[in-house]
Amino acid sequence: MANIILISGSPSKQSKTAKVANYLQKQLQERNHDAQCIHVRDLPAEDLLHAKFTSEAIRHTHELIERADAIIVLSPVYKGSYTGILKAFLDLLPEKAFANKIIAPVVTGGIIAHLLSIEYSLKPIFSILGAREILHGVFILDQAIEKDERGEITFQGDAKQRLEDLIRSISIEKASV
Ligand SMILES: Cc1cc2nc3c(=O)[nH]c(=O)nc-3n(C[C@H](O)[C@H](O)[C@H](O)COP(=O)(O)O)c2cc1C
Repeated sequence: MANIILISGSPSKQSKTAKVANYLQKQLQERNHDAQCIHVRDLPAEDLLHAKFTSEAIRHTHELIERADAIIVLSPVYKGSYTGILKAFLDLLPEKAFANKIIAPVVTGGIIAHLLSIEYSLKPIFSILGAREILHGVFILDQAIEKDERGEITFQGDAKQRLEDLIRSISIEKASV
């Protein structure tokens, strides 16, 4: 069993990225992992905007991250990169917060041309935070994320399989540590 933290970085209330995060959390829990999700939009805005490193809410997220074996960072593409609120959150993390952890990016976007934002925007900041084991990651087009009649998330195409592969990679990497 791995301790896995998901960080969901969309500011949107009806966020497709957050729905993917909740889906992944459930899938991980069903496989007996301890999975918790930090939705950055739910943190006090003032703590993020005023860089309150020592606020209780921010410190709590740092404790969760410190205990994690693996971290899945999720963001929509905004203006070709990850979101501003995710950057505000990552800026408050301790210097090498991602060291000795498995890190996986999951990005949703409107156009496939921005698939590479994972490589040029997210992966560099993971490295700066000390990550050495960064998994390939998953990019999902927003049109591929839908709801069924019960309001449950569904995926078009191979997105579900690629998320499944990501979960499997985390389990394999954790087992080999
Ligand atoms: C302000 C804004 C900027 C966006 N910029 C891009 C972009 O540069 N490239 C892209 O592929 N999609 C872009 N999108 C589309 C979102 O990435 C996409 O719809 C995503 O799934 C939204 O996720 P969310 O519902 O979790 O916020 C943008 C959306 C918004 C609202």
